[in-house]
Amino acid sequence: MEGKFPKDFVWGAATAAYQVEGAFDEDGRGSSIWDSFCRTPGKVLHGQTGDVACDQYHRFDEDIRLMSEAGIGAYRFSIAWPRIQSDGRGKPNQKGLDYYRRLLAALEKAGIDPYVTIYHWDLPQALEDEGGWPVRDTAYRFEEFANICFEAFGPSVRNWTTLNEPFCSAILGYEIGVHAPGRKSRPDAYRAVHHLLLGHGLAVRDYRASGAKGNIGIVLNIQSPRPATPSKRDALAADRAADRDSRMYLGPLFGRGYPERHLAACPDVSMPVEKGDMEIIAQPLDYVGINYYTENAVAWDDGAPENFKLVPTYYEKTDMGWDVIPEGLLRFLRWTNDEYSPKALYVTENGCAVNDAVSESGDRVRDPKRIDYLRSHLASCCRAVEEGIPLKGYFVWSLLDNFEWSFGYSKKFGIIRCDPETGRRIPKDSYYYYREAIAGNERF
Ligand code: FCB
Repeated sequence: MEGKFPKDFVWGAATAAYQVEGAFDEDGRGSSIWDSFCRTPGKVLHGQTGDVACDQYHRFDEDIRLMSEAGIGAYRFSIAWPRIQSDGRGKPNQKGLDYYRRLLAALEKAGIDPYVTIYHWDLPQALEDEGGWPVRDTAYRFEEFANICFEAFGPSVRNWTTLNEPFCSAILGYEIGVHAPGRKSRPDAYRAVHHLLLGHGLAVRDYRASGAKGNIGIVLNIQSPRPATPSKRDALAADRAADRDSRMYLGPLFGRGYPERHLAACPDVSMPVEKGDMEIIAQPLDYVGINYYTENAVAWDDGAPENFKLVPTYYEKTDMGWDVIPEGLLRFLRWTNDEYSPKALYVTENGCAVNDAVSESGDRVRDPKRIDYLRSHLASCCRAVEEGIPLKGYFVWSLLDNFEWSFGYSKKFGIIRCDPETGRRIPKDSYYYYREAIAGNERF
């Protein structure tokens, strides 16, 4: 069996609503913070938007057929909150529900298991106008939205994810401002962290209380950077970096609270914790999803507030400028497993941006770099399984080239090309590689 994945390993592909759906003003969809952000000059490359994106709203049959033909057994997608509640509150929009019911029915017919993310960053603009995630009420609005999803789609969905990457929603959105809503306040960002996690906990609590039988978890893009040298000081630097990037999320989720050492280094922030919140956040999880793209190296720095700094490395880089480090994925799975012993783990996103082009004949996309990337990262997954880490599945990011947030359509992550002008799909060489891997024709 060595070098092979177990028979029940889940082979998936992932997308997110705003990045692929398009149909931004159809069937009663409201506006989200990403609609507004894209329309703010200077925020997204070339002023591009997700208005049309891959037009999956109208073309999901084709995408499902392509998944089927590759043997992909699971599709991770997200539900656009403003399609279901255009202003983020109140009665659901029937046409929005109908869309996801059609999508779920088509997946079921194809034998593809849906892994549904409830929130992948598209907060209804109306809720942002009331203060957004830094405001406590947003957690309750999320709870309401999640309950609508459980009720409407529950019978067809066995695997739920509450949030995708709360770090990005909070820190990129409210502290650094490179993601929607583009605000720049660290105190607000940390308030957002708490309310995202609270919303998550409320949703998990309600899901359990409903008696539903499926699995529910969360997807994180946490990091545990490696020490740049074997010195004790660099090891400590790496441990401190894990406070900020990982333990701020995993800590409260696993009942250990926010890392005090990190909060002590941020005197300007205070977590708006109310009585009972930490218990709500620490609901037992069926799995933790890890989105892994790269790993950073850190060294000790006397002058830095938390005594660590990122150091340059010389690994091959993807089109995002991110190091290709497959060992980092294995290290990270080990770290998460050793520190938290989650019931199950999934790699819910992994892949790379490659500036690939379509052949002159117009029907082939050669992307050997992506094939190498997938092969080496799948090898890390295979090692993890052999070591006894409860890794249950892998989702390639992404099924299709899509709207890559502030980079617009300039960064291509798909194993299927999606022509931004016509929406035409062309499976890339990596798509055929993935098919071989899924078929078990590879030894890792
Ligand atoms: C992750 C996001 C996903 C995609 C990839 C490249 O952080 O979850 O939507 O943009 O990065």
